[in-house]
Amino acid sequence: MAGKAQVVVFASQKGGSGKTTVSAHMAVQAELSGAGPVALIDTDPQGSMAKWWNARASAAPAFARISVPDLGRDIELLSDAGYRLIIIDTPPAVTSTIAEVITHADLVVLPTRPSPHDLRAVGPTVDIVQMQDKPLVFVINSATARARITGETAVALSQHGTVAPVTLHHRVDFAASMIDGRTVGEVSDTSRSAAEVANLWAYLEDRLMRMRASDPRDLIDRPPRSTFEADILSPATAGMSSQELDEDEDALENQPGYALAGMGAPPPPPPAPEPSANSNWDGIDRRKADTGPPPGKPDRRRLGHQPFGRRFTA
Ligand SMILES: Nc1ncnc2c1ncn2[C@@H]1O[C@H](COP(=O)(O)OP(=O)(O)OP(=O)(O)O)[C@@H](O)[C@H]1O
Ligand SMILES: [Mg+2]
Repeated sequence: MAGKAQVVVFASQKGGSGKTTVSAHMAVQAELSGAGPVALIDTDPQGSMAKWWNARASAAPAFARISVPDLGRDIELLSDAGYRLIIIDTPPAVTSTIAEVITHADLVVLPTRPSPHDLRAVGPTVDIVQMQDKPLVFVINSATARARITGETAVALSQHGTVAPVTLHHRVDFAASMIDGRTVGEVSDTSRSAAEVANLWAYLEDRLMRMRASDPRDLIDRPPRSTFEADILSPATAGMSSQELDEDEDALENQPGYALAGMGAPPPPPPAPEPSANSNWDGIDRRKADTGPPPGKPDRRRLGHQPFGRRFTA
């Protein structure tokens, strides 16, 4: 009998967070990297994954038509047929059906957009994963390049579980490729999106391999992990100066209707002390002055029409 296939479930109560897009991309990337054969299962009545697969020219990954009550038996059948990885897409809900699907997971991936709405919605999905004591990885999807909110989202999510060190950015090729049954790598294998997908799969594959290794000695012959720097720097941010990275959107706590209070808001900074007879302060404010953009770069914060940067109202 073949070894048991590993099962990765993509779940999130929030609609449109990227479950179908990311799971389809991971399935194709897994085939490419030799981790297959891969079988896809769509448990969403909307059938977005099935529609994407029907539009595909390539037969890999395979698509398995199953019903959730038979999932356990069908996972065994797929394992016996030689499938090594089963990727399951789920609907945007928290239901007993999704809880049932998660019981079969070796790893649950929870794609999240870096937005207050998505962050507020993760709780119930995290709860059903944690109730079953399943390993969980958050994947930040559809991020805006250089936006501070992405890092803040990662910090907020990290209070609840592991955050994948690779972020998928918002790019039209993700949406476009899904329409005609392809992936971003199949549209252009040199695109930034394709590199992010490959890096994300490399991270998930490493996680799955470590779970599979029953003996720590199995890990010894593995090639070393890619460098930490390569993991945390996406193609969109690699090589940028810290000043460029600082010029971004409004911070998460400034987003309309969002209060960090629910997640333990930091108190406002204390006002600067007034010079007094008992203080050593000489009354000179030495806070770093705003010296403007780097030499030769436009001042994007004051151009008004630019999408990034702080908004100056006065
Ligand atoms: N990184 C991205 N860049 C641009 N568009 C994206 C990205 N990720 C997803 N999208 C688009 O966002 C929409 C929602 O994505 P998707 O269908 O994968 O989410 P979902 O979580 O499966 O949604 P649902 O909860 O309705 O099943 C789709 O149109 C998809 O093409
Ligand atoms: Mg979907």
